[in-house]
Amino acid sequence: MSDMILNPESYFRQLVGERDDLLKELELEAENQDIPIIGPLVAELLYVLARVTGAVSILELGTATGYSGIYLAKAAAENGGKLVTIEWSREMARRAAKNFQRAGLSHAVDICEGDALEILESLEGPFDMVFLDIDKEFYVKVLPRIGDVIKDSGLLVADNVGFKDADAFNRAIADSSRWKGVNLFAFLPGHSPEKDGLCFAMAQ
Ligand SMILES: C[S@@+](CC[C@H](N)C(=O)[O-])C[C@H]1O[C@@H](n2cnc3c(N)ncnc32)[C@H](O)[C@@H]1O
Repeated sequence: MSDMILNPESYFRQLVGERDDLLKELELEAENQDIPIIGPLVAELLYVLARVTGAVSILELGTATGYSGIYLAKAAAENGGKLVTIEWSREMARRAAKNFQRAGLSHAVDICEGDALEILESLEGPFDMVFLDIDKEFYVKVLPRIGDVIKDSGLLVADNVGFKDADAFNRAIADSSRWKGVNLFAFLPGHSPEKDGLCFAMAQ
Protein backbone atom coordinates (compact mmCIF):
# COMPACT_ATOMS: atom_id res chain seq x y z
CA MET A 1 0.00 0.00 0.00
CA SER A 2 1.30 3.49 -0.76
CA ASP A 3 3.01 5.69 1.82
CA MET A 4 0.26 8.22 1.19
CA ILE A 5 -2.25 5.89 2.85
CA LEU A 6 0.07 4.18 5.34
CA ASN A 7 1.89 7.24 6.57
CA PRO A 8 0.29 10.45 5.35
CA GLU A 9 2.40 12.57 7.72
CA SER A 10 5.73 11.52 6.20
CA TYR A 11 4.18 11.58 2.73
CA PHE A 12 3.10 15.22 3.04
CA ARG A 13 6.28 16.20 4.90
CA GLN A 14 8.40 15.22 1.88
CA LEU A 15 6.34 17.48 -0.39
CA VAL A 16 7.27 20.71 1.42
CA GLY A 17 9.11 22.88 -1.11
CA GLU A 18 12.76 23.98 -1.03
CA ARG A 19 13.71 27.28 0.61
CA ASP A 20 16.60 29.65 0.02
CA ASP A 21 19.63 29.83 2.34
CA LEU A 22 18.31 32.73 4.43
CA LEU A 23 14.98 31.00 5.14
CA LYS A 24 16.74 27.73 5.98
CA GLU A 25 19.07 29.62 8.33
CA LEU A 26 16.07 31.23 10.07
CA GLU A 27 14.38 27.83 10.41
CA LEU A 28 17.49 26.33 11.99
CA GLU A 29 17.98 29.33 14.27
CA ALA A 30 14.31 29.11 15.35
CA GLU A 31 14.74 25.43 16.18
CA ASN A 32 17.96 26.03 18.15
CA GLN A 33 16.66 29.07 20.00
CA ASP A 34 13.06 27.91 20.50
CA ILE A 35 11.52 30.71 18.45
CA PRO A 36 8.02 29.61 17.40
CA ILE A 37 7.98 30.50 13.70
CA ILE A 38 5.27 29.22 11.36
CA GLY A 39 7.57 27.07 9.22
CA PRO A 40 7.64 26.64 5.44
CA LEU A 41 4.21 25.17 4.81
CA VAL A 42 2.13 27.78 6.59
CA ALA A 43 4.47 30.44 5.19
CA GLU A 44 3.80 29.26 1.63
CA LEU A 45 0.10 29.21 2.41
CA LEU A 46 0.24 32.85 3.54
CA TYR A 47 2.17 33.78 0.42
CA VAL A 48 -0.37 32.07 -1.85
CA LEU A 49 -3.31 33.65 -0.03
CA ALA A 50 -1.74 37.10 -0.22
CA ARG A 51 -1.03 36.73 -3.92
CA VAL A 52 -4.40 35.30 -4.96
CA THR A 53 -6.27 37.94 -2.98
CA GLY A 54 -4.02 40.64 -4.47
CA ALA A 55 -3.36 41.98 -0.96
CA VAL A 56 -1.56 45.30 -1.29
CA SER A 57 -1.69 46.34 2.33
CA ILE A 58 -0.83 43.52 4.76
CA LEU A 59 -0.63 43.69 8.55
CA GLU A 60 1.19 41.16 10.70
CA LEU A 61 0.98 40.97 14.50
CA GLY A 62 4.03 39.10 15.86
CA THR A 63 7.18 39.56 13.75
CA ALA A 64 9.78 37.57 15.72
CA THR A 65 12.82 37.21 13.40
CA GLY A 66 10.83 38.12 10.29
CA TYR A 67 10.42 34.60 8.88
CA SER A 68 6.69 34.82 8.11
CA GLY A 69 7.19 38.51 7.34
CA ILE A 70 9.59 37.69 4.51
CA TYR A 71 6.86 35.66 2.77
CA LEU A 72 4.20 38.30 3.42
CA ALA A 73 6.41 41.24 2.39
CA LYS A 74 7.41 39.42 -0.79
CA ALA A 75 3.76 38.84 -1.69
CA ALA A 76 2.83 42.44 -0.80
CA ALA A 77 5.72 43.81 -2.89
CA GLU A 78 4.75 41.63 -5.85
CA ASN A 79 1.20 42.94 -5.49
CA GLY A 80 2.59 46.50 -5.50
CA GLY A 81 2.21 47.09 -1.77
CA LYS A 82 3.73 46.78 1.68
CA LEU A 83 3.74 44.84 4.94
CA VAL A 84 3.31 46.50 8.32
CA THR A 85 4.50 44.19 11.09
CA ILE A 86 4.25 44.66 14.87
CA GLU A 87 6.70 43.30 17.46
CA TRP A 88 7.11 44.29 21.10
CA SER A 89 10.58 42.83 21.64
CA ARG A 90 13.26 45.33 20.66
CA GLU A 91 15.74 42.50 20.15
CA MET A 92 13.38 40.64 17.77
CA ALA A 93 12.48 43.81 15.88
CA ARG A 94 16.19 44.48 15.36
CA ARG A 95 16.83 40.94 14.14
CA ALA A 96 13.82 41.11 11.83
CA ALA A 97 15.00 44.41 10.32
CA LYS A 98 18.34 42.80 9.51
CA ASN A 99 16.64 39.77 7.96
CA PHE A 100 14.29 41.89 5.83
CA GLN A 101 17.36 43.75 4.62
CA ARG A 102 19.15 40.47 3.79
CA ALA A 103 16.05 39.33 1.90
CA GLY A 104 16.12 42.57 -0.12
CA LEU A 105 12.70 43.50 1.25
CA SER A 106 13.36 46.49 3.54
CA HIS A 107 11.55 48.76 1.07
CA ALA A 108 8.40 46.64 1.45
CA VAL A 109 8.22 46.48 5.27
CA ASP A 110 7.45 48.87 8.12
CA ILE A 111 8.31 47.39 11.51
CA CYS A 112 6.32 48.91 14.39
CA GLU A 113 7.96 48.26 17.73
CA GLY A 114 5.55 48.03 20.68
CA ASP A 115 2.50 46.32 22.13
CA ALA A 116 0.16 45.25 19.33
CA LEU A 117 -2.88 46.54 21.23
CA GLU A 118 -1.39 50.04 21.46
CA ILE A 119 0.13 50.14 17.97
CA LEU A 120 -3.19 49.03 16.46
CA GLU A 121 -4.83 52.15 17.87
CA SER A 122 -2.49 54.32 15.79
CA LEU A 123 -2.89 52.37 12.53
CA GLU A 124 -5.54 53.54 10.13
CA GLY A 125 -5.72 50.85 7.52
CA PRO A 126 -7.60 49.65 5.65
CA PHE A 127 -5.62 46.42 5.42
CA ASP A 128 -6.46 43.80 2.82
CA MET A 129 -5.04 40.95 4.87
CA VAL A 130 -4.03 40.50 8.52
CA PHE A 131 -1.89 37.72 9.96
CA LEU A 132 -2.26 37.25 13.72
CA ASP A 133 0.60 35.49 15.52
CA ILE A 134 1.22 37.14 18.92
CA ASP A 135 0.75 35.50 22.33
CA LYS A 136 -2.55 33.70 22.11
CA GLU A 137 -4.21 35.27 25.17
CA PHE A 138 -4.08 38.62 23.35
CA TYR A 139 -5.92 37.37 20.25
CA VAL A 140 -9.37 38.16 21.63
CA LYS A 141 -8.20 41.59 22.85
CA VAL A 142 -6.88 42.74 19.48
CA LEU A 143 -9.77 41.28 17.47
CA PRO A 144 -12.16 44.30 17.70
CA ARG A 145 -9.46 46.71 16.51
CA ILE A 146 -8.49 44.33 13.68
CA GLY A 147 -12.16 44.45 12.70
CA ASP A 148 -11.83 48.25 12.47
CA VAL A 149 -8.65 48.38 10.38
CA ILE A 150 -9.35 45.50 7.97
CA LYS A 151 -11.32 46.26 4.82
CA ASP A 152 -14.69 44.63 4.21
CA SER A 153 -14.05 41.24 2.60
CA GLY A 154 -10.48 41.38 3.97
CA LEU A 155 -8.86 38.16 5.13
CA LEU A 156 -7.74 37.49 8.70
CA VAL A 157 -5.50 34.46 9.25
CA ALA A 158 -4.77 33.49 12.86
CA ASP A 159 -2.16 30.91 13.80
CA ASN A 160 -2.25 28.36 16.64
CA VAL A 161 -5.99 28.49 17.25
CA GLY A 162 -5.73 24.96 18.66
CA PHE A 163 -4.00 26.40 21.75
CA LYS A 164 -6.25 26.67 24.78
CA ASP A 165 -5.44 30.39 25.14
CA ALA A 166 -7.04 30.97 21.73
CA ASP A 167 -10.41 29.63 22.93
CA ALA A 168 -11.91 33.06 23.69
CA PHE A 169 -10.77 34.29 20.25
CA ASN A 170 -12.29 31.27 18.48
CA ARG A 171 -15.59 31.82 20.25
CA ALA A 172 -15.53 35.56 19.53
CA ILE A 173 -15.05 34.90 15.80
CA ALA A 174 -17.88 32.37 15.83
CA ASP A 175 -20.22 34.76 17.66
CA SER A 176 -19.36 37.97 15.79
CA SER A 177 -21.38 39.34 12.89
CA ARG A 178 -18.20 41.11 11.63
CA TRP A 179 -16.52 37.79 10.81
CA LYS A 180 -17.24 34.74 8.71
CA GLY A 181 -14.69 32.32 10.11
CA VAL A 182 -13.45 28.82 9.41
CA ASN A 183 -11.21 26.88 11.80
CA LEU A 184 -8.98 24.14 10.43
CA PHE A 185 -7.37 21.59 12.73
CA ALA A 186 -4.58 20.15 10.67
CA PHE A 187 -1.27 18.37 10.29
CA LEU A 188 1.05 21.09 9.03
CA PRO A 189 4.56 19.76 8.29
CA GLY A 190 7.30 21.94 9.75
CA HIS A 191 4.78 23.84 11.83
CA SER A 192 5.19 23.78 15.56
CA PRO A 193 3.33 22.10 17.12
CA GLU A 194 2.39 20.04 14.09
CA LYS A 195 -1.14 19.18 15.06
CA ASP A 196 -2.61 22.62 15.46
CA GLY A 197 -5.24 24.88 14.01
CA LEU A 198 -5.46 27.87 11.73
CA CYS A 199 -8.38 30.27 11.52
CA PHE A 200 -9.36 31.96 8.27
CA ALA A 201 -11.92 34.70 8.71
CA MET A 202 -13.44 37.12 6.25
CA ALA A 203 -14.50 40.54 7.45
CA GLN A 204 -18.11 41.17 6.44
C1 LIG B 1 4.94 33.20 17.41
S1 LIG B 1 6.08 34.51 17.38
C2 LIG B 1 5.90 35.16 15.77
C3 LIG B 1 6.49 34.29 14.72
C4 LIG B 1 6.49 34.88 13.33
N1 LIG B 1 5.15 35.30 12.96
C5 LIG B 1 6.98 33.86 12.32
O1 LIG B 1 6.23 32.90 12.07
O2 LIG B 1 8.09 34.03 11.81
C6 LIG B 1 5.23 35.71 18.35
C7 LIG B 1 5.96 37.04 18.45
O3 LIG B 1 5.00 38.00 18.91
C8 LIG B 1 5.59 38.83 19.87
N2 LIG B 1 4.47 39.29 20.71
C9 LIG B 1 3.74 38.54 21.59
N3 LIG B 1 2.75 39.27 22.13
C10 LIG B 1 2.86 40.51 21.57
C11 LIG B 1 2.11 41.71 21.71
N4 LIG B 1 1.05 41.80 22.55
N5 LIG B 1 2.47 42.78 20.98
C12 LIG B 1 3.54 42.72 20.12
N6 LIG B 1 4.28 41.61 19.95
C13 LIG B 1 3.93 40.52 20.67
C14 LIG B 1 6.62 37.97 20.57
O4 LIG B 1 7.66 38.78 21.12
C15 LIG B 1 7.10 37.06 19.47
O5 LIG B 1 8.27 37.54 18.85
